[in-house]
Amino acid sequence: MSKPSSDGQDPARVIEDLWYKNAIIYSLDVETFMDANGDGIGDFEGLMRRLDYLQSLGVEVLWLAPFHPSPQKDNGYDVADHYGVHPRYGSSGDFVEFMHQAKKRGFRVIIDLVINHTSNEHPWFQAARQDEDSKYRSYYVWSKEKPEFMTDGVVFPGVQESTWTYDKKARAYFHHRFYEFQPDLNMINPKVRAEVRRIMGYWLELGVAGFRVDAVPFLLEANAPDKTEPERHFEYLDEMRQFLQWRVGDAILLGEANVAPEEMKPYFGGNGGAGSGIHMMFNFYVNQYLFYALATANSEPLAQALRETQGIPATAQWAQFLRNHDELDLGRLSDERREEVFARFAPEESMQLYRRGIRRRLAPMMGDRRREELAYSLIFSLPGSPVIRYGDEIGMGDDMRLDERDAVRTPMQWSNESQAGFSTNQEPVHPVIREGIYGYERVNVEAQRRDPESLLNWMTRMVRLRKECPEIGWGEWEILDIETPGVLAMRYEWHGAGLVTVHNFREIPRQVDLVVDVDGGETLVDLLNEGRSQSDDRKHQIFLEPHGYHWFRVGGLNYSVARASA
Ligand code: NOJ
Ligand code: CA
Repeated sequence: MSKPSSDGQDPARVIEDLWYKNAIIYSLDVETFMDANGDGIGDFEGLMRRLDYLQSLGVEVLWLAPFHPSPQKDNGYDVADHYGVHPRYGSSGDFVEFMHQAKKRGFRVIIDLVINHTSNEHPWFQAARQDEDSKYRSYYVWSKEKPEFMTDGVVFPGVQESTWTYDKKARAYFHHRFYEFQPDLNMINPKVRAEVRRIMGYWLELGVAGFRVDAVPFLLEANAPDKTEPERHFEYLDEMRQFLQWRVGDAILLGEANVAPEEMKPYFGGNGGAGSGIHMMFNFYVNQYLFYALATANSEPLAQALRETQGIPATAQWAQFLRNHDELDLGRLSDERREEVFARFAPEESMQLYRRGIRRRLAPMMGDRRREELAYSLIFSLPGSPVIRYGDEIGMGDDMRLDERDAVRTPMQWSNESQAGFSTNQEPVHPVIREGIYGYERVNVEAQRRDPESLLNWMTRMVRLRKECPEIGWGEWEILDIETPGVLAMRYEWHGAGLVTVHNFREIPRQVDLVVDVDGGETLVDLLNEGRSQSDDRKHQIFLEPHGYHWFRVGGLNYSVARASA
C-alpha cells in the first residue's frame, strides 16, 4: 500500500489529535447566510440563530469568508481594517458572542486571512500614497517608472487590465495581483510581517482555530517592476506557522494555493518536513480532474491526479472541495480537457469566467440528484478533510444575471417564506433565487427537513458516515486496480480497519470485479445500503447503479476503527 508520507515519517507515530486531519468543514459567508435585523444583509446574530442547524447537519469546522470593514468591491477580500467587524454584520461584541455560542456547540471557527493585499481605502495605503516619507510607503510595492510588463500576470483576465496602476497622489505605480483597488502588501518588509503577526494574534486571542490564508502563492512573491517571475519566499510560511503555534498550539493555516503537484512540496514545509509550512491546502488540482471525470465519465486522469497529490507529510492534510465562492477554476487542465468540461457544464459563454472557469453552482451543473450525490460521496471519500459549501446541502442553484462570481453567492434558502426566510427585507444584499426549479419555494431547508428522502437528510447521513470512517482522513490509501473504465475504487486502512469506496461515473449500470487482498478482505459490508459481499478468495463482484456509489467496511462491522482519536 502506498505510504501517505514522502519524508519517511511513520503515520502511526503522528499524534492523533491533529483535529484537521479528519474534520468536516462548512464554508459560509456571514453576508448571505442569515439576516436577523431585517436590513437585507446577513449578520452574526443571524448566523448564531442557525448554529443549531449546522450542528444537526454534523459539520465540525466553520470557515467564514471575510467579514471585516471593507468597501466590498471584492466580496470583502478588499479589507480596510483587519481588526474589525464590518458594522453591517454586527459589532466585535457580536463576533465574540458568536464565538462563544459556536464553541459551546463544539465548533471550531476558521476565518480568512487576507494579507496579500489590502483595500486601497486601508489607512496604510492612504498614508503610503500621500507621503513618500511615510513609514507605510514601504508596506506596498512601488515603481516610479512605468513597469515594462504591466499587463503580465493578471488574475482576472477579461475584467482586470494590468498588475500595475499609476497613483496620482503617490506619483508612482503600485503593484496589484488582483483588482486595482487591492494594492499588494510588500511581504518582504519585516514591518509588514510584524503587522500580520499582530493581526493573527488578535483573532487567535478571540478564539479562532486558524486561518484560511488567501492567495498564498502571490503572498510569497517578492514583486518588483523588473521581475516578471518573482521568487517565492516559502520561509515566510514557516515563520507564520511558528508564530501561530507559539500562540495557540493546535491552530492551523489552510492555504488557498492552486498549484501544480510538482510545486506543492515547499508549501507543506519543503525539506523542513513535518511541522513546517502550512497545515492544509485546498486540493485545487484534484478538484479540476474531479470535474473532468464528472463531465466525461473518464476517471483515469482523476486517479492520476490523486496519485500525484499523494505523499504529503503525515502532519499535513488536503481540504477536498467541490465548489467555493469563486469560479470553478479549470486552468490546470489541458485546453482540450477544459473545453470538454465547458461543453458539458458551461455550454453558454455567460456561464464561463476569466477564460478558465465556470461561475455555476454544483446542483445546476450536475443536473440531477444522482450526480449530485455521486459528487458529494466522492468528496467525502477522497483522502483529506471534506468541505461543504453552504447551500450545497439542499442543492441550491445560481443566478447568471449577477456579475462575475456573484452568480454563486445568493442568500441561503431557509424556507418558502418571502426572501427565502433569509431576510424580512425586500431587497437583500444579493437577490434570492426565486424562479425555476432552484427557486426558494421548491429548494429550502424547511421543506427538506421534513422530507426523509431529501438531499439535506442524505447529506446529514453522509456526514455521519464520514465521521465513522476516520481512516479516510488518517489512513493509508490506494487506488484499486479494476478493469472497469469510468469506475474509481479506493481502499483505505488505518489501525487495522479498512474501507473500500467505489464510484461509477457512467450513466449505465456496471459490474465491477474487486480484489481486496488484505486481512478481512473476504467480507465487504455495504455501509449505505443493505447488503454484503462474501468471498473466500477475496474477489468480489459488485453491482453499481448508473452513477452509483458504495462504501464498504472491509472485514465486517466488527473491524471498524477501534480508536477514532487518541
Ligand atoms: C481569492 C479569493 O478566494 C477571491 O474571492 C478573491 O477575489 C481573491 N483571492 C483576492 O483576494
Ligand atoms: Ca442584517
